[in-house]
Amino acid sequence: MKILFTTVVLLFLSACVHAENGHDLWLRNKNAVSVQVVCARNTPTIAIARQELQRGWQGAPNASVILSMKSDKTIKGDGFRLSATGVQANSDLGVLYGVYELLRRQQTGEAINPELMNPSYERRVLNHWDNQNATIERGYAGRSIFWRNSKDSLVVTEADRKLWREYARANASVGINGSVLNNVNANVDVLTADYLARVKAIADELRPYGVQVYLSAKFSAPSQIGGLKTCDPLDPEVIKWWKEKVKEIYRLIPDFGGFLVKANSEGQPGPQDYKRTHADGANMMADALKPYGGIVMWRAFVYSASDNDRAKQAYEEFVPLDGQFRDNVIIQVKNGPVDFQPREPFSPLFGAMKKTSLMPEVQITQEYLGHSIHLVFLSTMWEEFLKSDTYQQGEGSTVARCTDGSLFPQKHTAIAGVANVGLDVNWCGHHFAQANWYAFGRLAWNNKLTSEQIADEWIKLTFKQSAAENSDWQANFLTPVKQMMLDSREAAVNYMMPLCLHHIMSANEHYGPGPWWAPKRMRKDWTPPYYHQADSIGIGFNRTHTGSNAVAQYHEPLNAQFDNIATCPEPYLLWFHHAAWNHKMKSGRTLWDELCYCYDKGLQQVRQFQKIWDRTQPYVDTERFLQVQSKLRSQSRNAQLWKDGCLLYFQQFSKMPIPYEIERLVNDLDELIKNDTRRSEPPAGFPRNRPVNTAH
Ligand code: GCU
Repeated sequence: MKILFTTVVLLFLSACVHAENGHDLWLRNKNAVSVQVVCARNTPTIAIARQELQRGWQGAPNASVILSMKSDKTIKGDGFRLSATGVQANSDLGVLYGVYELLRRQQTGEAINPELMNPSYERRVLNHWDNQNATIERGYAGRSIFWRNSKDSLVVTEADRKLWREYARANASVGINGSVLNNVNANVDVLTADYLARVKAIADELRPYGVQVYLSAKFSAPSQIGGLKTCDPLDPEVIKWWKEKVKEIYRLIPDFGGFLVKANSEGQPGPQDYKRTHADGANMMADALKPYGGIVMWRAFVYSASDNDRAKQAYEEFVPLDGQFRDNVIIQVKNGPVDFQPREPFSPLFGAMKKTSLMPEVQITQEYLGHSIHLVFLSTMWEEFLKSDTYQQGEGSTVARCTDGSLFPQKHTAIAGVANVGLDVNWCGHHFAQANWYAFGRLAWNNKLTSEQIADEWIKLTFKQSAAENSDWQANFLTPVKQMMLDSREAAVNYMMPLCLHHIMSANEHYGPGPWWAPKRMRKDWTPPYYHQADSIGIGFNRTHTGSNAVAQYHEPLNAQFDNIATCPEPYLLWFHHAAWNHKMKSGRTLWDELCYCYDKGLQQVRQFQKIWDRTQPYVDTERFLQVQSKLRSQSRNAQLWKDGCLLYFQQFSKMPIPYEIERLVNDLDELIKNDTRRSEPPAGFPRNRPVNTAH
């Protein structure tokens, strides 16, 4: 009888769950009731705020909401004061943000008490690595939403405009206020009049939502499109060219945000081509932007093919320039010293440059974390990073505080995320990848939020079917799905690169395992063996004082802590140490056994995620349920490849057995290498210093 009853209830529940394709993201506006909006002002942004309230109000029917704009010194930038009956802000954008907060709280059931909410960072920016031919570098959700690849690719259609508005709305709803529209590996054409006309059209749609546009600028533009003989940043003609170009842009887009520049990095041109410094290059552009309030986000992702440890190079190049940058230059620094790996210690540049503004760059698109196939909630990784203590101004000098202006005086503060958005119906390729877009915005707004809270909000907004959803939904959907999300990044670390192994993925596509990949003439620092250093003695990169001494770039007590294998936190072990295969871990196991356990644990975690998801079926619409279920199957298969590939490959060095307690491997190494090499062998004529079409 009980079983029958439960079945009937479950069938009823699934019948109530309407099909959804994910296009509405976390803005599904279920069950709105009528509301009276009172506001003395009217601007396009206020009109949106009104409309959002009318589309999404879930408070008392016919309640009055007062939106007011008046100057209040305690409100910072686009911050606001929230209460159950209204929003007060200094700007119309602040009002809009307050409205989104109010609606979010109604939908998630969070209390609405009077509260002042100020953003952690002034600029909260998405970096799109979109090419003007509509492809996206490291994009896994279809083609670009900004660019087309057809003969009338520059014609702006109504469909384009609608999509851009939807995109802007999603950003505004989580406080993102800037978008770089093109790839950091920039195509110079974006600065020509034809493309700028399209940029203007995009900016016009994004503006009412408070999203400023920025462009990636190629340093060689003055010669490439300006006909100049040089791009030397100190050359008067070059300076004039950039001034004119900036003027042209601001004539079209008065609120243009500024430039993002990848210079002298992975083959991109830059000031060093003219024996000038990064500061010379960045300042020249900053001077051109200054009269209009624009900024330069100058990237610190630099390294060259030398014997010097790649992880040390950005620090060595940039720290000596501290204090030499204009106040409208912000140095954009990736979270870790190498490249968005599943786990890296924080980049030692944070806090080390005390007289220069630094902005963190994280990667929302999952280049190294399973593309849009794996379910990996990145918020926990970013939280770990933002909370990392640099000790640069004593205990508590977290990365968050080193970058949000609370430790060092900074004219501008900012944070960037490499976007995971494309033309796929659900925007991000994987329904759960939407949570990473959401989480980036939420953390950029408030860098103290916990991943637990962010996941909780996102699940409620994205999957809850009705306001009446109750303890049954909480117990059977919210709680297990949230736990799955919170565990998912650590699971990926376990089955891909445990104990801070890094950069051992397959070449070029950066998806599966590839610790073996090392073609003969390939630059060493683009091959996994450079990073894992496996040999008969052990595994890991020796960055201690007996090795590359990268530890010295960290402030005490971290330097000493990382340097000593006995005190180095185990999650970072193989980043800093070449540890012996029989090194004793805290668990009592040898390092080799620990590696085996980690890989196996990661795989078991994904299997567990499959079970968790399967049990949620009655609570999710069929379309999204099946899509996630299928992706989890692929993730499981891929996790198995990682486990088998890495353990069998490293076993050749350790010569130790796979512990009997863990599940047996099911793939053969030869086969895995053969399949991987077929995909990743460099094509004929492959340049020695740079892969074709892409950076590494
Ligand atoms: C990574 C990524 C590249 C990208 C580069 C960058 O190396 O693989 O595609 O261009 O980072 O951040 O500039």
